[in-house]
Amino acid sequence: MKQRRSLSHIALALLLCPLALARHHTRHPSGAAEAQGGQLSDGVTSTDLHYNDGSLLKELHPPPTSPQNVTVDLNLPICHDFGRTGKFTGQWVDHPDRNFRQHSACPKWAHDFDCDTSAGPSDKNPALLASEYRKVFQPDECNLRPWDTQGFDTCMKGRRIIFVGDSMTWQMYTSLACLLAPVTETGVGVTWEKSNTTVTGEYKGREWNEGRHIMKQYWAQVKLKNGGELIARCFGRFNGTLWDDVFAELGPLTERDVIIVNFGAWYPRFNYYEIRTPFEAYKQDVREIFMEKLAKSPAQTIWRINSPSHFGGHTGTFTAIEQMLMPEGVPKRQHCDPVTVGEYWFRDAVLQTLKECGEPCKKIKLLPVFDLSLARHNSHHGSFGRGRDVDMTDCRHFCLNVIDWWNILLYSMMCFP
Ligand SMILES: *[C@@H]1O[C@H](CO)[C@@H](O)[C@H](O)[C@H]1NC(C)=O
Ligand SMILES: *[C@@H]1O[C@H](CO)[C@@H](O)[C@H](O)[C@H]1NC(C)=O
Ligand SMILES: *[C@@H]1O[C@H](CO)[C@@H](O)[C@H](O)[C@H]1NC(C)=O
Repeated sequence: MKQRRSLSHIALALLLCPLALARHHTRHPSGAAEAQGGQLSDGVTSTDLHYNDGSLLKELHPPPTSPQNVTVDLNLPICHDFGRTGKFTGQWVDHPDRNFRQHSACPKWAHDFDCDTSAGPSDKNPALLASEYRKVFQPDECNLRPWDTQGFDTCMKGRRIIFVGDSMTWQMYTSLACLLAPVTETGVGVTWEKSNTTVTGEYKGREWNEGRHIMKQYWAQVKLKNGGELIARCFGRFNGTLWDDVFAELGPLTERDVIIVNFGAWYPRFNYYEIRTPFEAYKQDVREIFMEKLAKSPAQTIWRINSPSHFGGHTGTFTAIEQMLMPEGVPKRQHCDPVTVGEYWFRDAVLQTLKECGEPCKKIKLLPVFDLSLARHNSHHGSFGRGRDVDMTDCRHFCLNVIDWWNILLYSMMCFP
């Protein structure tokens, strides 16, 4: 085991170099990579990705080892009670099987977030897809339980998972619905207005003027074969009345139900056209969600820590600032750069609120997806040329290969408390 460990550390050290290199190239036309292979020392092989702007990305692969040992370092304990601080660090390593793909067949009630679909023909990037979808996450301090569809199904017997939040919450629902497709009986996943919901009124966001309404986005209801249910209710910003109306329709909650909630994308840190910063509204909304909703619910409650998505700009600022102030318009960005500054303020605000709330909020768990998602800027939709239709690269939504790991974390947290 020691041997494997040191080997994977070598591979990792090598792997970090190309990431640093990639940082300096802001343009990687995603349709234009060409791959070339090579053999290095110690059985490490490499793939060179040449982009048509002249930049080069070197992907290094450790020698194959036995697949069942992928994320299992025998020196580490099983991950347990890991959601307390919102931090959870680790490394992405190549799966030893060169052909491994973090990929599930998605049913019709859970589609649209896989990066190998829907991009135009010139955006297809098989080399990037192969290297990105091969990565698996090894936490620094413990081993996650490996994903087990049957195991999750058993854990879901007679329970409901209710996802509430914005489009990134919808992604997490989508990933889980894909992972659980083999044990699913029926499902509906539609935009809000196509659903049968009775929640059809208008609600306004905190700090918004009368007349500006929260966008109600997605709606899903999935029945597993053993009676478990996945439910998704997605809308851009939180409103207490909207929350209550949504939950009234779902009927009484029990302590077996699980609510997973997160908002963030619609609360940019800075925004020139809103008089008070949306982030002030975020802090108040988080307080209301925690103290008035989650702490008082009989259900198990999980706040999904924000992801390190680029909320428009590198530092989480909203690019509308640039768009409006640049007469020529913002140049198209065809690649998602790493988050350079962090966006830790979302997590800090959440931790502060939990501290203030104290005992009543003790049962709220944090699903710590920030750190593990941080390195995956090459697995955004924009990295694969998706979401360019509005002159902006979509560097907000991750591909499902990353989001799947949010649900692998959920499996450990929810099913082995
Ligand atoms: C893989 O793990 C098993 C225990 O699960 C161990 O016996 C074996 O030696 C490991 N193989 C390698 C190559 O580390
Ligand atoms: C709404 O209800 C009708 C009638 O029960 C059903 O045919 C339809 O599939 C439902 N649509 C959704 C999105 O649930
Ligand atoms: C939530 O929406 C309702 C209905 O539009 C509105 O009356 C209320 O003021 C909103 N809440 C906040 C905090 O803005």
